[in-house]
Amino acid sequence: MVTQRTFVMIKPDGVKRKLVGEIISRIERKGLNIVAMKMVQISRERAEELYAEHKGKSFFPELISYITSGQVVCMVVEGDEAVAVMRKMIGATDPKEASPGTIRGDFALSKGENVIHASDSEEKARREMSIFFREEEILELKA
Ligand code: RTP
Ligand code: MG
Repeated sequence: MVTQRTFVMIKPDGVKRKLVGEIISRIERKGLNIVAMKMVQISRERAEELYAEHKGKSFFPELISYITSGQVVCMVVEGDEAVAVMRKMIGATDPKEASPGTIRGDFALSKGENVIHASDSEEKARREMSIFFREEEILELKA
């Protein structure tokens, strides 16, 4: 068993469309543990830090204005191979390509507004978690 933590964020369209409960429910039903959670309005600086790898790409300005357009729900999700499992649960970046049964496959149609983010590696997960959470805000789950 490889217990990992990953960073998950319900994007502004997911919050506006009231999909927070549905998404949390899917994460819980899968058997993953939510060990930290907060709703925030992301500043431009934090959005640019989160998506630093895309700086300079054509969609970057659009991505930053979308991510800062409303509140987001940030989480740290823990479990066996949590990074790959969450990526599988969110589905392909372009919701038109995402399989039915995935979050993007079931709830989105536009690549620009695709409901949810999850880290794509353990290293990125550590980096992204540290943008939004202090170490003491991430809890040890009590059985
Ligand atoms: P995310 O980081 O948000 O979890 O998404 P991802 O790994 O599946 O996709 P990534 O390549 O990291 O792209 C980040 C976000 O940028 C927007 N995007 N728009 N118009 C476009 O061609 C385009 N490409 C990417 C999406 O909102 C994507 O989730
Ligand atoms: Mg990404």
